[in-house]
Order: sequence, then C-alpha cells, then structure tokens
Amino acid sequence: IERLGRRRAMEGVRVLVTAGATVERIDPVRYLTNDSSGKMGFAVAEAARDLGAKVTLVAGRADVAPPGGVELVRVESAQQMYDAVLSRFAEADIVVKAAAVADYRPAQTAARKLKKTEATLSLELERTPDILKALGERKAPGQVLVGFAAETNDLAKHAMGKAARKQADFIAGNDVSKPNVGFGHDTNAVSVYTAEGLVEDLPLQSKRAVADRLLAIAYDAYKARAE
Ligand code: CTP
Ligand code: CA
Repeated sequence: IERLGRRRAMEGVRVLVTAGATVERIDPVRYLTNDSSGKMGFAVAEAARDLGAKVTLVAGRADVAPPGGVELVRVESAQQMYDAVLSRFAEADIVVKAAAVADYRPAQTAARKLKKTEATLSLELERTPDILKALGERKAPGQVLVGFAAETNDLAKHAMGKAARKQADFIAGNDVSKPNVGFGHDTNAVSVYTAEGLVEDLPLQSKRAVADRLLAIAYDAYKARAE
C-alpha cells in the first residue's frame, strides 16, 4: 500500500475500467438509461493512469469528459459494452467495473421513430447480459476483478452476495440513500467487500481519493498472487 504513494507504482500493470451508463435504444430518437455520471469510473481510470498503469477505458453515456492518456472505447448499449470488455479481458490484469449497466433493454428496437397511436403503450423488456458475471466465469487465477454495487438497503448482504454470485474479488458497495454518495456527486463513500466479508470502509471523500484507495486494494491482491 505504501508503495502506491510513489509515482508510477503500477507501471506496466494493465487496468481495464468501465464507466458511465449504458443506453438501450427504443427507436432512433428514444432510449432507456440511468443516472450514472461516469465520474467514479473516470476517476479510477485517471488514478490508474497517474500510477503508471496501461489503462483501457470502456465508457458509456457520461456527463463529464473522460480523462486523457488512456485508451478510450466508446460504447452505447450493454451488449456493446459486453463485447468491448470480453474481447479485451484476456489482456487485463485488473478490471474495475464501475459502469451502471442496464439490467433490461427493449426486446425490440424500432428501426423507425415510433408514432403515437393508442392511449397506453407497453414496452417489453428483456434482460441484458451480466458483464461482471461473464468475467468472473472466465477469470484467470492472476486476474483481479472489482465490481460496484449501488444499494439503498442491506449493503453488506447485497455486496457480499454479488461478489459470490459474480466471482468478483471485490465489490465496492455504496449506500446511495446517503447524501453526497454515488450517482452524479463528486464524492463517494464505499465499503469494500469480498464474498467473505468487509475489507475496508472508505468514508465520504472525493471520487478520486476513493479510486486511489480502491486501486491500492486491487493492486495488493494482484501482487500477492504474482508472488
Ligand atoms: N453489472 C454488469 N452487467 C450487468 C449488470 C451489472 O457487469 N448487466 C455489473 C456492474 O457494472 C457492477 C456490478 O455488476 O459492477 C453490480 O451491479 P448491480 O446493478 O449492483 O448488480 P445486479 O447484479 O445488476 O443486481 P441488482 O441491480 O438487481 O441489484
Ligand atoms: Ca443492476
């Protein structure tokens, strides 16, 4: 951990980060998305870059500009993010999945703008692929996988459950019912869990500071395996 204080402590480490919201098209001018601003994932990418890592950033819709000095892959839908991430996974040492991926998408995307007809309209939605779970199933022993979980209740239970179900090494859980935590804010407070229990509480601080600490935890685990 101390060593991460040094510049370029992660030199040569390949970090894959996802950030932002996915966009699921209903028709050419309408879509489903969520409140993710992209700030948390961008902070992770920027922090890893500053530590000398080789960073690939797969970004969906975001409210702010992505950091420079990283390989940027822009995607729209959960399916595009899945394809972009899975095809790059083998070349990554550490993966941080901060993106807010839509759980459902329209079962059909209309090629033309929908016209209003009836008084009500039902949209049929279908599940999107779970990217983090797919990575967990394909993970090599040396790779470290970090996910996020935004919850309003039972944070520890949900975060530990997600770590187990998705075979993620760490889940950074945040309680978004608290002020200044999560979506859209420049600050965050997260608790880092493995499937077995709490690793560390990161109290309310800038997303960049959360990112630095989260990377230190992931990098420690990565180094421990390499030894
Ligand atoms: N995630 C993913 N692909 C999805 C859904 C989620 O990769 N289709 C990832 C997120 O990027 C995050 C983690 O899984 O790192 C947890 O996301 P979350 O939405 O909290 O978990 P879900 O499994 O979708 O459960 P739920 O929304 O029902 O709480
Ligand atoms: Ca979800």
